[in-house]
Amino acid sequence: LGNGLANTPQMGWNSWNYFRCDFDEKVIKETVDALVTTGLAKLGYNYVNIDDCWAEPTRNSEGKIVPDSKSFPSGVKDLADYIHSKGLKLGIYSDAGLYTCQIRPGSLKHEYDDAALFASWGVDYLKYDNCFNLGIEPEERYPPMRDALNATGRTIFYSLCEWGVNNPALWASKIGNSWRTTDDIEDSWESMTTIADINNKWAAYAGPGGWNDPDMLEVGNGGMTFEEYRGHFSIWALMKAPLIIGCDVRNMTAETYDILTNEEVISVNQVFLNDLLTPPSSSVIFANEISSDPLGVQGKKVDSYGPDGCYQIWAGPLSEQRFVLALWNRCSKPSTITANWGAIGLESSTTVSVRDLWKHKYVSLNSATSFSAHVDAHACEMYILAPVAAARSAS
Ligand code: GLA
Repeated sequence: LGNGLANTPQMGWNSWNYFRCDFDEKVIKETVDALVTTGLAKLGYNYVNIDDCWAEPTRNSEGKIVPDSKSFPSGVKDLADYIHSKGLKLGIYSDAGLYTCQIRPGSLKHEYDDAALFASWGVDYLKYDNCFNLGIEPEERYPPMRDALNATGRTIFYSLCEWGVNNPALWASKIGNSWRTTDDIEDSWESMTTIADINNKWAAYAGPGGWNDPDMLEVGNGGMTFEEYRGHFSIWALMKAPLIIGCDVRNMTAETYDILTNEEVISVNQVFLNDLLTPPSSSVIFANEISSDPLGVQGKKVDSYGPDGCYQIWAGPLSEQRFVLALWNRCSKPSTITANWGAIGLESSTTVSVRDLWKHKYVSLNSATSFSAHVDAHACEMYILAPVAAARSAS
């Protein structure tokens, strides 16, 4: 796509998962304020994205989309100015079809006019949905909006929301900065784990500039336990998924705050914090070639065992020859889960330091060829493994 964006997965907030159609400009401004005062903005959550229902059901006499006069009486430009004054960016939503999913005007065949309108308001991000698409293939419907956005001269993040139709991972990196790989997420363990597994299949196709999107975070919306939400956040970070908060950040519990602000987990997903945990020395030889651009590698499920493979090991390479490791217990009983070096891609007998990203401390290695830990039912432990220099002389 080459618009210079999405060197790391996008971070921010979106109205849909929590508010659906029940929000207005006041809610958005309060959300902006909350993102700033809670410190979330500083951690990188910088796109404030308005989803469906912001527009009037019909275009005006000039054919323009009009913000809903009841919920957005001050207009989108006013909101963009407010958001920009706080150092954040504004995302908006439209649809590559006749209507949006909630029956507001779609942008199919209006791409250039609508993109110009969005740019004139100061929009920084477009989520582009897939409803009422007239049966035209997404490969045909999504490029015109890319070209229209580019033609505005404004740099606008382009987020494809076409639900994984026709396997976008295979073709969308030239079209958008991210592409949904699945149907909509729901606020349940069942939905979240199913979506993680589908997104996992496309790991090889993500990278700087274009990311697989397993949909927005449900953390804080109440349908999962604290442990389940920790797993949701851990695995999304490891999969280099967009980290788009979907709860009401004006009213977060301490637990929700704890999850969303875990800098060590965010550092796995982003570059800007990625040197936080670089160990003093980090040269060792690995069995697998490390990608030349390790910061952009989507981690994946590398091993599983137990009933239905519910004891799971997810891992992936990071910069500085480090690895991220998640031990995810999707069984209904607590258990020790063991990750073997071979599965992660570490040469046998490699000595590593093990940083526990949820306990915020280094833990000791319990074997020369694997790492084991106790993991509660539906919990997920997450680590960064960094090679230590001693391993070289020892091997
Ligand atoms: C679709 C999208 C969701 C959301 C709704 C809004 O279902 O996949 O993410 O944008 O539309 O109507």
